[in-house]
Amino acid sequence: MIIIGFESSCDETGVAVACTERGLLAHALHSQIAMHREYGGVVPELASRDHIQRILPLTAEVLQKAGLAMGDIDAVAYTAGPGLAGALLVGASVAQSFAWARGLPAIPIHHLEGHLLSPLLAQPRPEFPFVALLVSGGHTQLMRVDGVGHYELLGETLDDAAGEAFDKTAKLMGLGYPGGPALSLLAEKGDAARYDLPRPLLHSRDLDFSFSGLKTAVLTRLKSIEKESGPLDSTQQADLAASTEAAIVDVLAAKAIKAMKQTGLKSLVVAGGVGANRHLRAKLQAAMKGLGGEAFFPPLEFCTDNGAMIAFAAAERVKAGLADLSGDSHAFTVHP
Ligand code: KG4
Ligand code: ZN
Repeated sequence: MIIIGFESSCDETGVAVACTERGLLAHALHSQIAMHREYGGVVPELASRDHIQRILPLTAEVLQKAGLAMGDIDAVAYTAGPGLAGALLVGASVAQSFAWARGLPAIPIHHLEGHLLSPLLAQPRPEFPFVALLVSGGHTQLMRVDGVGHYELLGETLDDAAGEAFDKTAKLMGLGYPGGPALSLLAEKGDAARYDLPRPLLHSRDLDFSFSGLKTAVLTRLKSIEKESGPLDSTQQADLAASTEAAIVDVLAAKAIKAMKQTGLKSLVVAGGVGANRHLRAKLQAAMKGLGGEAFFPPLEFCTDNGAMIAFAAAERVKAGLADLSGDSHAFTVHP
């Protein structure tokens, strides 16, 4: 069965085709990062309008890349949420129209399930069961995954997401948008031990996270440096970036390790945009080796939002018998 998938929950328009037998066949992506940069964050109205402009050309591109015609498609998947309401509606409308016109089933996919299963797009592919650390701009969760559709929440953030912590602290430091990649790039040149920053809930027994205090701590530190010696020089900037990154990564790694010990599982899967962070990857890889286990990451291009994970998750749901393929369901399913 060949499934086309649409992702439009935030600032990336993604389209892909996946096959239940052969996996991912082709994908295409347009990032709106450059467009939103001048506003310092995603402008929802602009995001929706841009998805409308891009989604059909990307669809044509994907079909061409896969050597397929519209008539070869057997089902249509789309991100049903969570995300920006107007942005979600673009993908959902196009997907439902496609399905309606061709008499195909439409499969709504939860955005986080897309991220959660994206490490299965890598080779070697992790075996179930595994622990997933889901770290995106909107979510930070630890999940136990026993199979497609079998997810147990082990812990999550009580306030800001890890990606949000990267983005907000980067903004305070004047690093622009999106902050995560900018801050981690600067951090590579810095000394993470120079500024002592809090690691909230590091020693709590649960598997929850809290990142909202970190931006206040970084702001306080920024102000005290400026008071002492004026605007930060490039070394101080890099050291503060490295110290901030280390504070976030230390907590994520500590809780992920705690989850591995509590569940006794040996495979850790990391998904979501923050999964692209090099420091986090290295730390988790080393930690898992120490535990006699293994850490799995999606290919870098599938860490942030993309259509491949949506088409792929739909294919996995179909294989697991978890998708409604009757073709009767033409009600919109969107959960902002
Ligand atoms: O999964 P994603 O593309 O979108 C959401 O569903 O939220 O994640 C985006 C988040 C942003 O907060 C971004 O700053 C962060 O992922 N991010 C990073 C890196 N690359 C992206 N954070 C830290 N280091 C990175 N290299
Ligand atoms: Zn995402």
